[in-house]
Amino acid sequence: MSSKKIYTGLIERYRNQLPVNKDTKIISLGEGNTPLIKLHNIPSILNKQAEIYVKYEGLNPTGSFKDRGMTMAVTKAVEDGAKAIICASTGNTSASAAAYAARAGITAFVLIPDGKIAQGKLAQATMEGAIVLQIKGNFDDGMRLVKEVADEAQVTIVNSINPFRLQGQKTAAFEIVEELGRAPDFHCLPVGNAGNITAHWIGYSELTNNSTKACAYCNGDCHYGTKSSVSIRPKMVGYQASGAAPFIRGDMVDNPETVATAIRIGHPQSWDYAWIVNKESGGWFDECSDEEILATQKMLAEKEGIFCEPASAASVAGALRDITSGKIPENSCIVCTLTGHGLKDPDTAIKQSTAPVVKIEASLAQVKSAILDNM
Ligand code: F0G
Repeated sequence: MSSKKIYTGLIERYRNQLPVNKDTKIISLGEGNTPLIKLHNIPSILNKQAEIYVKYEGLNPTGSFKDRGMTMAVTKAVEDGAKAIICASTGNTSASAAAYAARAGITAFVLIPDGKIAQGKLAQATMEGAIVLQIKGNFDDGMRLVKEVADEAQVTIVNSINPFRLQGQKTAAFEIVEELGRAPDFHCLPVGNAGNITAHWIGYSELTNNSTKACAYCNGDCHYGTKSSVSIRPKMVGYQASGAAPFIRGDMVDNPETVATAIRIGHPQSWDYAWIVNKESGGWFDECSDEEILATQKMLAEKEGIFCEPASAASVAGALRDITSGKIPENSCIVCTLTGHGLKDPDTAIKQSTAPVVKIEASLAQVKSAILDNM
């Protein structure tokens, strides 16, 4: 028998910095511990000196960063005796909620927008036994309904307005600092509800023993501040899709549209907190067009072998533009979060694939000439 300890997820790993006690039954699928990958080929195309890392959150158990928050939210829901959880979702939260509910033996209700959800995410939620309610509306409509129904039914909301979600998600910042031995200068993320950018800021703030007003869990009275050798927090940079960019417009957007369906959100739930993050960190928000997002998704796959979903690519698309313009100075250390796996949305990927599928007979001669023709 191997003596190596099996990795059992981020709550066990960071239990002293999370709201659990020794009796808490932890609901985990071994989430977290995702790779931080240094880009090798893209920086040389840019012709700029920059250390760019991607935190590949698509390698979580259900293929997105949501699992970090969901292990925590479902663990706490079960501890409180919940028999059912509910969320509105553009897809990934529903897949994650469904998986952790299945693991816990409770019911997940998920509200998803009509026709605007990537197929992989829908497949996950239905396979994992969630009750899927497809509404004739968008994410923002779903979120409003979830809040209303939770007042009337015995269901725990597991969207990121549940403060335990961001407690789990803050651990991504812990992992990054452990790997780099420092915080990056810039941390770039795609922004929808702005829960994840807020969670990372909470994580960096705790590690540097700084208080933040952006934490709904402690409201400025943090008990998890640690004295570590890391003292500088990154500038937090959030990129939105142009058609769903309330943080850039400065106001809510009523009919958000983007190919990056994960972030097709016009009424962000962490609006106030994200502005606090923006101010405290000295970062900024910007937008990326759908064309930029898709081109970057493809470039990451083609040049680095890293396949993320469209929304995730917004972090890299924006960062590359800001490195090129000098807004992010040369020689900076930059981390971009790749929030979800490319396999989540096969339709969008196949639509933009240009690599030819060479159709041939099953003969040695044809295979050989196909190789020689394509060397
Ligand atoms: N990237 C992906 C792949 C997402 O699924 C989401 C959010 C985000 C980025 C944005 O994160 O909302 O914390 O700013 N997806 C939610 C969902 C809305 O329902 O799956 P955020």
